[in-house]
Amino acid sequence: MNNETKPILRVLNGEAVSPVPIWLMRQAGRYLPEYRELRSKAGGFLDMVYNPDFACEVTMQPIRRYRMDGAILFSDILVIPDALGQEVRFEEGRGPILDPIRSTEELDGLSVEKAKSKFETVAETVSKVTDALKAEGFDHTTLLGFSGSPWTVACYMVEGQSSKTYFDIRSWAIKDPNGFQKLIDILVEATVQYLDLQIRAGAEAVKLFDSWAGILDETSFRRWIINPTAAIVKQLRSIHPDTPIIGFPRQAGVFLSEYVETTGVTAVAIDQHISPVWVNENLPKDFPVQGNIDPFYLFAEDQELKSEAQNICDAFQGRPHIFNLGHGVNKETDPDKVKTLVDCVRQYTSENMKDKKYG
Ligand code: CP3
Repeated sequence: MNNETKPILRVLNGEAVSPVPIWLMRQAGRYLPEYRELRSKAGGFLDMVYNPDFACEVTMQPIRRYRMDGAILFSDILVIPDALGQEVRFEEGRGPILDPIRSTEELDGLSVEKAKSKFETVAETVSKVTDALKAEGFDHTTLLGFSGSPWTVACYMVEGQSSKTYFDIRSWAIKDPNGFQKLIDILVEATVQYLDLQIRAGAEAVKLFDSWAGILDETSFRRWIINPTAAIVKQLRSIHPDTPIIGFPRQAGVFLSEYVETTGVTAVAIDQHISPVWVNENLPKDFPVQGNIDPFYLFAEDQELKSEAQNICDAFQGRPHIFNLGHGVNKETDPDKVKTLVDCVRQYTSENMKDKKYG
């Protein structure tokens, strides 16, 4: 299968494809026993991320189990602060911990130049996954690279951990926008460098995770979500004009329309807090959309899970659509439920939909 026939790349090229291709956010992770086994051998989470053999193996685990249409590079959005020189630790039960940066003076410790060697280690994983997909005959699977978006990565850098209020970042960004802009500028530069290396190593499309886009008002959304995303898209396009870029401005709500119109992304991933019918009615008709079943339906009875998945497929019928969750797989999820979902989407959309090409 050449690139033009990989289902996800066809969708990203503006085609409505049947069966609808599927992959899941956080498809590699603790809900899989094979992940937990490898994780216990690797030491820390970041040790696994920076070990290309382990990271490649973990990327492949859900592909082997479910024949997913997309293989997402196994890494983390917090590789960027770690590589820039802000130490990142993952503590069991607490998530990520960083020494918070709360002023422009503290930005002097960050270096995009220094980040390169860790970025190259991750790029090595990408080339290993490219080889593994070929060697194991997953010709239909698209290799997806990714990065966190500047705002979302900055949330962790400034708060120092997952936060409920985002008080420190929001107050800094409002009080001293020009100072805060300096952090965002560093992150734009690092993100372009990081994604460029991933694409050179074989990533066929890339995704920008803006998990905390939804906490911003309209003016701030333009400045901290739309502008940096547009800058990244513009710079990446000048180097890799044909590589699709998926944006995921989580919980953007009605700001989604402006995000789609102005950032230049190829496709948008949507969370479960927005109605697929609204999205279908409000985005340009040939614009590719990825999403958006609530990951908690993976705890539902099969019938309910299937009916919800079918509703989402129905809402996007005729539109270029990649099926996915609205957010990541929870670690308590039963791996068999994931299979039920994948089989259902494939079966339902091959029986009920025909390929439709838009001009
Ligand atoms: O399968 C995949 O999706 C690929 C790998 C991937 C991970 N994180 C692995 C991971 C991807 C794409 C991410 C993105 C990521 N990381 C996001 C954006 C998507 C989202 O969920 O909103 C964010 C916000 C992070 C930051 C992060 N990483 C947090 C807050 C945590 C702790 C919470 C948790 O689930 O433990 C992580 C850790 C992490 N990243 C794990 C995995 C598999 C679990 C770590 C472990 O094995 O202990």
